[in-house]
Parts: sequence; structure tokens; C-alpha cells
Amino acid sequence: MRILLLNGPNLGRLGSRQPEIYGSTTLAEIVAAARAHAEARGSTLLELQSNHEGDLIDRLEQRDYDGVVINPGALTHYGYALFEALVGCDVPVIEIHLSDLEKRAEREPWRRKSVVRPAVIATVMGKGWQGYLDAIDLLLDHVDDAPSAAATPDAARAGEAAT
Ligand code: DQA
Repeated sequence: MRILLLNGPNLGRLGSRQPEIYGSTTLAEIVAAARAHAEARGSTLLELQSNHEGDLIDRLEQRDYDGVVINPGALTHYGYALFEALVGCDVPVIEIHLSDLEKRAEREPWRRKSVVRPAVIATVMGKGWQGYLDAIDLLLDHVDDAPSAAATPDAARAGEAAT
């Protein structure tokens, strides 16, 4: 399976950006760990970090992947164009955050809202960089469990489409 790992604004500075919140592991280290984890499970990892919503959407439009793991950064809270791109990519998507947004929302209520959430099958948060590995596991377990489209009766597919 080809997993597309996307990281949004300011995540390129992980390691030095607010380490008391996000930890001291760099994005390069996270990507290396995520790649090794994906490869150990027979998958490949494609990856992009961008500070620009349009770049993330352009990458999603390439459609050369079978599932997506995304930390949208602050776009989580207002990125409606990104949300629509995720809905339209037609593959399972997992949302990942290093920090616990529920806890942080006690001081910063705007962090409680994730506009991308309706586009994802699961959210991992508050587990630091290891959460990226959990997100990959959730994605691969979901795909392993899902009956393939070819094996799904037409009637069941029609039922799914109606819900
Ligand atoms: C984040 C949480 C967001 O609220 C924040 O804007 C980020 C990082 C996280 O990984 O905890 O940039 O997505």
C-alpha cells in the first residue's frame, strides 16, 4: 500500500518549535521512523510538508497513493479547502496531532474544532511523534479489514453509497 504522509504549516520546524508541546524530535526523524514502520508492514511512504494549503491540495490531486495520514497543523481548525480535497481523494484518511487538542482547548477553545474531521476515518492525538506510527497502523488495519471493492456485491456497494 502507498501511504501519503502530509504535514501542514509550521511542522517543518518540529524539534525546535515549542518543544514543551510538540517534543524535540524533528520532522525528518518522524518521517524516517514512519517510513521504516510502513516498510516493515510491506507499504511505501510518500511524504510532503508544506506551509501552504494549496500545495497540500495539489499533492492530493496527484492520486498516486492508497491512503493518507495527515497532520494539517493549524489548517485543522479552518482549512475548508483542504477538507474538501480530503473528502474528494476517495481513500481512507487518518488525522494525527502530536498534542492533545481537547486539553489545549481549555485555554485555546479554537483548537477544539477540526474542520477536517468529517473526512477522516480516525484521529490520533496527544501521543507525540509515536502517534504517527499508530496512525499508520490504523490505516493499514482498516485496509486489511475492509473487503476489496471487487469482492463487494454491487447491492452492498449501492447501499454504502446511499449512506
Ligand atoms: C497540531 C495541533 C494544531 O492545533 C497546531 O496548530 C499545530 C500542530 C499538533 O500536531 O498537535 O500546528 O496539529
